[in-house]
Amino acid sequence: MTVETALTVPEEIARSVMLPESYADLDGTVHPACRWLRENLPVGRAEIDGYDPVWLIARHADIKTILGDQDLFHNADVNILLYPTAGEEGLRALNGGNTKVLENLSYMDPPEHATYRTAIAPVFSPARVRQFEARLKTLAKEHVDRFIEAEGDIDFVSELSRDYPLSAVMELAGIPPEDYQYMLRLTQDTFGGDDPDWKRDDVPESPEAAARQWHAAVQDFYEYFEGIRSDRTERPRLADMSTEIITSRTADGALMPDRIQNHLTLTLALAGHDTVNSAISGCMHGLLQFPDQFAKVKEDPSLIPGLVDEGLRWATPAKHFMRNASEDADVLGVEMNAMDRVMALFVSGNRDEEVFESPYDFDVTRKPNPHLSFSYGPHVCLGQHVAKLEMRTLYAELIPRLRTIEPAGEPTLKLSNFVSGQKTLPMRFVAA
Ligand code: HEM
Repeated sequence: MTVETALTVPEEIARSVMLPESYADLDGTVHPACRWLRENLPVGRAEIDGYDPVWLIARHADIKTILGDQDLFHNADVNILLYPTAGEEGLRALNGGNTKVLENLSYMDPPEHATYRTAIAPVFSPARVRQFEARLKTLAKEHVDRFIEAEGDIDFVSELSRDYPLSAVMELAGIPPEDYQYMLRLTQDTFGGDDPDWKRDDVPESPEAAARQWHAAVQDFYEYFEGIRSDRTERPRLADMSTEIITSRTADGALMPDRIQNHLTLTLALAGHDTVNSAISGCMHGLLQFPDQFAKVKEDPSLIPGLVDEGLRWATPAKHFMRNASEDADVLGVEMNAMDRVMALFVSGNRDEEVFESPYDFDVTRKPNPHLSFSYGPHVCLGQHVAKLEMRTLYAELIPRLRTIEPAGEPTLKLSNFVSGQKTLPMRFVAA
């Protein structure tokens, strides 16, 4: 289709929000470009070298319109993530002609999506999740104790925010502690394919390397979780999310197919580690940049849920998700064709001036805080109550143990346009 020139996003702006390397400089590159889009071209067509054309959706309200319409906008006819064209092709070649690497909810459309989401949703309800609260509190205390002992200059990511959510996910899914390093490597492999520091040795350098790395890591995850699945099938455990997922039944009373059970279980590790890591470090980054907000939470711990939501908005751990139009349609004032792809820029919606007052300020008292970090609509994050409980539990332990905090250098950010955040967050603190 020929798109009017007026709808074409300037190349520099498109590169600033699409390329993984832009995300190493969120404040200098990504946020200014998103702001330009919101102000000048909130629904624009981006065509840059090496990528298939996509529609960029920058405003909060427009992202909700698209994500709310599951019949018109599908997750998985093309790809739920933005890859370079070579990556898309590489992935299809490896994966039987399509990019659906996982049979989890993110890759499902109606009616399959509702069948399996309804089956496992009770496992993630706030009431069921609360059964893990005491175990998470113990875990949070252990991690905070270790962190506090290292008083002085410290990297918040490697000393706290990276390890705690992984231990938490492993605890909930009943994965043995001796597999900790392996799980850590696999999540870093999965989300780190664009970052030179996290490249796998067995994936040769090429334009499709990130896609190949994602595929390879998911295969390794699958193999590992096949072991968990067969173990729990034979020996179900109480208060164990792996068992709960595997024994969930669809509305007609049937157990889910083995492959889907396995993919849904491994999603726990995949979706619940690096995202929470980025959200936790996002909270601390905000507190370091806005010391008055640290003083507020210290004085009034009832603000911790507000800190958690503001950290989620501030960091936006998952920067985008893709959809594709399932038929020709007029959408948000533009004509889209079937199979046109849209990039929902959560990172932009979360700074939308129409919705958030002073969006570039970190404000733990922001209320309401309708951030899009967990997406919106039928695919809204199923693990959000787990993520928030983990974060609240950690900060409830941590804040009273800190007397002062200050930055101890510039943070570094991961090169990824998907799940990304601080790779390092140097800080200094005095214990209370
Ligand atoms: C701060 C942490 C987290 C963030 C920012 C996050 C973000 C997201 C986002 C943006 C989506 C929606 C994708 C879409 O629109 O297609 C999603 C889906 C999902 N998340 Fe999370 N997530 C987090 C933690 C978790 C945790 C801890 C779990 C599991 C325990 C989890 C499980 C899921 C699942 C199963 C889906 C698929 C839902 C569906 O497609 O119906 N997430 N997450």
